[in-house]
Amino acid sequence: MIQVEGLTKYYGPFKAIDSLSFHADAGEIVGFLGPNGAGKTTTMRILTGYMPPSEGRATIAGFDVFEQSLQARERIGYLPETVPLYKELTVWQYVDYMAALRGMRNPNRAERVDEVLDRVEMLDRADSMISSLSKGMRQRVGLAQAIVHRPDVLILDEPTIGLDPRQVREVRELVREVGQERTVLLSTHILSEVSQLCSRILIINKGQIVAEDSPATLASRLQGTTRLSVRVGKATPKEVAKAIRGIEGIDEVIPTDEGVEVISSSQADPRSAISATIVQKSWELLEIHSVDMSLEDIFLQLTTDETMDEEEDQDA
Ligand SMILES: Nc1ncnc2c1ncn2[C@@H]1O[C@H](COP(=O)(O)OP(=O)(O)OP(=O)(O)O)[C@@H](O)[C@H]1O
Ligand SMILES: [Mg+2]
Repeated sequence: MIQVEGLTKYYGPFKAIDSLSFHADAGEIVGFLGPNGAGKTTTMRILTGYMPPSEGRATIAGFDVFEQSLQARERIGYLPETVPLYKELTVWQYVDYMAALRGMRNPNRAERVDEVLDRVEMLDRADSMISSLSKGMRQRVGLAQAIVHRPDVLILDEPTIGLDPRQVREVRELVREVGQERTVLLSTHILSEVSQLCSRILIINKGQIVAEDSPATLASRLQGTTRLSVRVGKATPKEVAKAIRGIEGIDEVIPTDEGVEVISSSQADPRSAISATIVQKSWELLEIHSVDMSLEDIFLQLTTDETMDEEEDQDA
């Protein structure tokens, strides 16, 4: 349904996305995950026809987003990062206007506007001015305009940003519902969001896709990696980190507010060596336990390793 090949975008000399290729099939919810500035919004803007790519191509249901943008756009619902709402309209007028722009006709249109407003639980605010809405309410109105014309493909740029926890849950539920009959591409930096909603995750970093897999497979990458939380008395986290950093089998030691975190991917359990070192220093071992690694950790590994390597290269 969404097909992207070698998509590249330059802003002046700066390459924001670099030969991206991916696809999303009908009925799939694909998560587009990446840190700030990774290129998520840039990619989505190209897919929705807001700007052309510098190189490469993208199609929606077989229509080129640039060369057949009209046909492509008809099939897309888009929730942009900042929803350009017309503040002088009421909620109802705005969604009706967006539906009209998408070629929907009355009398069915009016009925459909009521229906989508009901779906995002904004029907009771139908006559409120958009300027009077809270951020979360605006986000829901944005979602209503994205689905009003029943598009095959939904492109949602951080749909739950700025919502309170209850609304986050509701919007996720809504995305899951609409995702059953449509293709959804959803960007976020919230890991739990993609693991709950998506069948496939694309991790993007600095304009490139660094991983693509199901949430379960990405999580299983972590098997064989241990993370330990260590709390020590009579020493600062920094002192502890310095003392245990050299122990064999330890990949990384990160000082935290309370103690240190140790990452190890070796077969040998570094726990006894850590406690021996602490005892030898006459410090007090308060706690040492293993912490479950999450999707969050893989994400951080995938999106921070690269910069660390670069720094190391510069040192060398
Ligand atoms: N109009 C623009 N002109 C110049 N550079 C831009 C423009 N828009 C985005 N960029 C740059 O392109 C890169 C990718 O930006 P983009 O907005 O696509 O990231 P993102 O993944 O959506 O980030 P976020 O999670 O913060 O929304 C960033 O380095 C950004 O500064
Ligand atoms: Mg963005």
